[in-house]
Amino acid sequence: MTLETEKIYDHALEVLKENDRGSYTVPTKGLYPFQWNWDSCLTALGQFHYDEARAWTEIETLFANQWADGMVPHIVFHVYSDGYFPGPDVWDTKRPIATSGITQPPVAGFAIKRLYDRAADKAAAATRARALLPRIDAWHRWFYEMRDPGGEGLVAILHPWESGRDNSIDWDEAFERVPTDGVEPYVRRDTQHADPAHRPTKEQYDRYLYLVQLFRSLGWDNSKLHDASPFKVVDPGFNAILIRSMNDLADLAEELGELEIARVNRERAAKGLAALDSLWSDNHGQYLCRDRITGELIESASIGGILPAFAAVPKARAQEIARTIERWSTQVKYIIPSHDPADARFEPKRYWRAPAWLVMNYMIQDGLRAVGEVAVADHIVKSSLELITRSGFAEYYDPTTGEPCGGGRFTWTAAMVIEFLEAA
Ligand code: GLC
Repeated sequence: MTLETEKIYDHALEVLKENDRGSYTVPTKGLYPFQWNWDSCLTALGQFHYDEARAWTEIETLFANQWADGMVPHIVFHVYSDGYFPGPDVWDTKRPIATSGITQPPVAGFAIKRLYDRAADKAAAATRARALLPRIDAWHRWFYEMRDPGGEGLVAILHPWESGRDNSIDWDEAFERVPTDGVEPYVRRDTQHADPAHRPTKEQYDRYLYLVQLFRSLGWDNSKLHDASPFKVVDPGFNAILIRSMNDLADLAEELGELEIARVNRERAAKGLAALDSLWSDNHGQYLCRDRITGELIESASIGGILPAFAAVPKARAQEIARTIERWSTQVKYIIPSHDPADARFEPKRYWRAPAWLVMNYMIQDGLRAVGEVAVADHIVKSSLELITRSGFAEYYDPTTGEPCGGGRFTWTAAMVIEFLEAA
């Protein structure tokens, strides 16, 4: 490492440690004062490089809060804080430790495989992985039971927050169907921590809340939510993460002698991969979302349709995605924007409607590298490190200027930087 990269590495460690709460890590102080699901799984990859045992704990703490039906919630409210809305009283899920009532992209299977593969102490890692295997498998099963009742092989999200790409352009049309009447009065907290021009709009927030209230009125009974929800979207990125995690979990289970877990995960992943192809768009050179209510593909070329490069999609598809990223990169200064820059709806500073996010960069470059698209993968890593050097460990970045947006000193951004530098 050069002096410059060493400084960046040390700074990243400092961010991880400052957001560490002992058995879990907050995404950032202030804006997100609890444990978030996929943030924790990706954060563990960074923690691994300075404390292997601590990395496993991050994921174990999340799974200690798994629901009886198998769902792993998107937020665990370990301690009281009034700095975040909607807090535990709004969700009212009646869990021993308060949680939200929806889930997030299931990246845990991928994360524990990576922790295990790299472990210095294989016996210790095997013990911890063995305990997590059935829990992660139960979460995967939950998706197919509760979010794919028709058995098509693809799971739906019922709330934009589940996608992890909260206000993506992908949801705009389908979201129109979600009413805003009857939403209880509320005060947002996010706009007190971050510039409102970088955050979702008030109308979107009303709809987010409408869905939370609807699901709460159904007692958070997942067997009812899918059919009752006015918002049901099949997100290719979300499904790709699930498929990758199932394949990785299957490999790991096989290695640890858990053959039944390996078999079912492999089977679900194969079915999912075959079904994913129905979301491919030749026109955009990427995958698109499908609105499960209308049955139509959604005309919105977002990073959700680029993310399948992370799963074992056919090589020709991954190569086409690499060409799409190259095309996008001619229109912005830093990659990867979270939406096609040629789309008139592209908003460079607004959260998931254009900004670049390092977690996306990490997963996509990982998949592209595996199929030999090394130049594009290297370009993604270079751009990510340039963003850090220019703008610090922000939540996300304006891809046209590199300006930092949203929260600062962000945990998963720091974890991804450590991963990038370790691989260099
Ligand atoms: C925002 C992001 C989501 C992330 C969370 C915590 O809601 O959209 O993906 O998990 O913040 O960082």
